[in-house]
Amino acid sequence: MRKVFVKTQNVKSFITLINNLQNKPDGVSKMALVYGEPGLGKSRTALWLAAQNDAIYIRSANLMTGRWFLEELVEELDEIPRYWTSDLFKQCINKLTERPQMIIIDEVDYLASDQKTIETIRDIHDKTNVPIIFVGMTLAQKKLQRYRHLYDRLSDITQFKPFSKNDVSEIITQLCEVELTEPAINLIHNQSNRFRQIVRLITKIEAVAATNNIEKIDEQILQEILKDEKRKNIENIKRVRNILTR
Ligand SMILES: Nc1ncnc2c1ncn2[C@@H]1O[C@H](COP(=O)(O)OP(=O)(O)O)[C@@H](O)[C@H]1O
Ligand SMILES: [Mg+2]
Repeated sequence: MRKVFVKTQNVKSFITLINNLQNKPDGVSKMALVYGEPGLGKSRTALWLAAQNDAIYIRSANLMTGRWFLEELVEELDEIPRYWTSDLFKQCINKLTERPQMIIIDEVDYLASDQKTIETIRDIHDKTNVPIIFVGMTLAQKKLQRYRHLYDRLSDITQFKPFSKNDVSEIITQLCEVELTEPAINLIHNQSNRFRQIVRLITKIEAVAATNNIEKIDEQILQEILKDEKRKNIENIKRVRNILTR
């Protein structure tokens, strides 16, 4: 499989969101939310865009407190975290004022139940005016809605959507080292709409093609591969059930 970053429609929407945020005048809110189902490429895109834009990427964790968040941010800003939370906050403000950097906070679902952390992030935004992008799952949007002060400041909300046929076609032609016929690509689009599933399938397709010396995968061969995958999944489920009921 080729190691390429595919610019799906979702990736393009994320790029547009960043451009819009960066072009907003000072004093206007520059916070945004990107959300969607798992496996659509939100985290990978966030990391890729963070590298492209010299932004700070922070992945939230379960039980993350405001203090823990500030410590992570201070470290990402190449500073040594001080002891008191108020000092940590000042460190962030000073550094971001001196050298503004966009902040992308992934897995925001973990933070969304903690009002203090959310308010701390809002304060950082209001004091420095750096763009802040929250990335999370579908529930994150609903959870954030509870914080009106924050939600009203979100100037852009973008949803990562399931892949279109064109997206699936782009993903396969760019990542898969074996050619697929158009009907085979359509079949994949009808069956899987997550990166992880498609990536697993590509690995399988490449292995089948290599061992059987096949140059182009058509719908029929793909059907067989899919059946085999399904059979293996069922066997795995049975095995797990057997272990659990032992
Ligand atoms: N644009 C892309 N190009 C190539 N591979 C990608 C792309 N986006 C995601 N992937 C791969 O798909 C998998 C799932 O992506 P991830 O970013 O973890 O999804 P999410 O954060 O939405 O759950 C990962 O293995 C990732 O490397
Ligand atoms: Mg993710």
